[in-house]
Amino acid sequence: MGATSAIIGSSTGIGRALAEAHRSRGLECVTLSRTPESLAGFPAFSLDLTDERQAAGAFEKVFARYPEIDTIFLISGTGDVEPTPGYETARSTIALNCAGFTLAAYQAAKHLEHRGAGRLVAVTSVAAIRGGSQSLSYNASKAYQSSLLEGLRCRFASLKLPITVTEVRAGFVDTAMMKAEKPFWVATADQAAQAILAATQARKELVYVLGRWRLIGWLLRLLPTFLYKRIG
Ligand SMILES: NC(=O)c1ccc[n+]([C@@H]2O[C@H](COP(=O)([O-])OP(=O)(O)OC[C@H]3O[C@@H](n4cnc5c(N)ncnc54)[C@H](OP(=O)(O)O)[C@@H]3O)[C@@H](O)[C@H]2O)c1
Repeated sequence: MGATSAIIGSSTGIGRALAEAHRSRGLECVTLSRTPESLAGFPAFSLDLTDERQAAGAFEKVFARYPEIDTIFLISGTGDVEPTPGYETARSTIALNCAGFTLAAYQAAKHLEHRGAGRLVAVTSVAAIRGGSQSLSYNASKAYQSSLLEGLRCRFASLKLPITVTEVRAGFVDTAMMKAEKPFWVATADQAAQAILAATQARKELVYVLGRWRLIGWLLRLLPTFLYKRIG
């Protein structure tokens, strides 16, 4: 890729593996994290997407210092099991996955539009495809993210700007966030990072991690509501 990337949410899990993948391929990247000290050897900036003012200041600082950033990875996210509607869980999910995600995506869009080209890559989830009774607000927040990304893709097209928006729909990835009782087709964080880099370089618009999750995505979309209600 050559030019500098920014990784939003980089101290653990997929974001950390993505930073390490950059290092092992000799690619430059800047990391943004609530704990910038946790990842040695990278230009690191403090970022809390649930603190609007702090986050806006952090993006301003990063893009002023690294105007050449042309690829922005939006990895941050949270979620918990929520088998009964629990507003505490929903509130923190919405704060990061909806409000924080929007703030980050808009800052990224503004920067890339100013440059006139680039790549915005975000990790959503297979959960974006349909609602889910066991993780109500998480699924809804991922659908929100997916829709926002599509909207930005349309915006860049209408502006005739060569800015690619890549949505990475992850299945299960072996990180702290994976809370399913019986996970299957589990990717390692490194596999996810390598797939994200490959999709970014190929300028893909939608990828699944692992690739075979595309089949689940396809089935989920096809299932009529009366059947989905029994398993969703
Ligand atoms: N693991 C899975 O099975 C799975 C499946 C589908 C989708 N995903 C998605 O993959 C993404 C990464 O999750 P992960 O699996 O790597 O889990 P993780 O290790 O728990 O990582 C969560 C990430 O969110 C960031 N984050 C949390 N609170 C934040 C805040 N207030 N401001 C900014 N960043 C914040 C963290 O960044 P810092 O600590 O660096 O601030 C961390 O990098 C998420 O969007 C998640 O929804 C995961």
